[in-house]
Amino acid sequence: MKIFLDTADVAEIREYAASGLVDGVTTNPSLAAKTGRDYVESLREICSIVPGAVSAEVLAMDYDGMIQQAAIFTKIAKNIAVKVPLTWPGLKACKTLSDQGTMVNVTLCFSPVQAMMAAKAGASFISPFIGRVDDMGEDGIGLIHDIRTLYDNYNFKTEILAASVRHVQHVRESALAGADVATIPASVFKALLNHPLTDKGLAAFEADAKKAGVVIKG
Ligand code: E4P
Repeated sequence: MKIFLDTADVAEIREYAASGLVDGVTTNPSLAAKTGRDYVESLREICSIVPGAVSAEVLAMDYDGMIQQAAIFTKIAKNIAVKVPLTWPGLKACKTLSDQGTMVNVTLCFSPVQAMMAAKAGASFISPFIGRVDDMGEDGIGLIHDIRTLYDNYNFKTEILAASVRHVQHVRESALAGADVATIPASVFKALLNHPLTDKGLAAFEADAKKAGVVIKG
């Protein structure tokens, strides 16, 4: 499964991308607002750090506005994926842009049928918001399972991008449910390797080596 960072914070992206394990980035207007920076400038910098897909979300609600803003985004770099909302104008823009060879991420997906319509419109990525589904008392991971089944039934190639990820368990369950990508906040990325037995084992190796004077000589 690919791991994307869900942030518009360039310093954060630079820090975690240095691991070589960040496959892409997703941003949205709320994440951009948090940085206090010009959105297009931030995107330009992010695209130079991460070679994989970088999602840039349109603010327009109408088709023409979305296409105009998509043109600004696609000039930034080849790895831009234009993010459009799951609305009729959004899917119309998705169809136009994907027909032109632009990657499109369709966002704010909350049902398998919405995901099917996005795939029919040629989306490269569909973003089901699993955390927000859980917040409603419903089953976010179940949504990933259902979209996986639907896409496999009809051989849709759109990648399932689990979004609104809140913790490591969401990552594990998304992977097991067949998501192609999980986009995660930096805090969750950092926690992916956490395990108390890893820490305990490492401390024991270190103590044993020190006690016995084990050294590695070249
Ligand atoms: C990703 O593309 C989404 O914009 C993001 O995951 C939304 O997450 P939230 O529900 O934590 O705002």
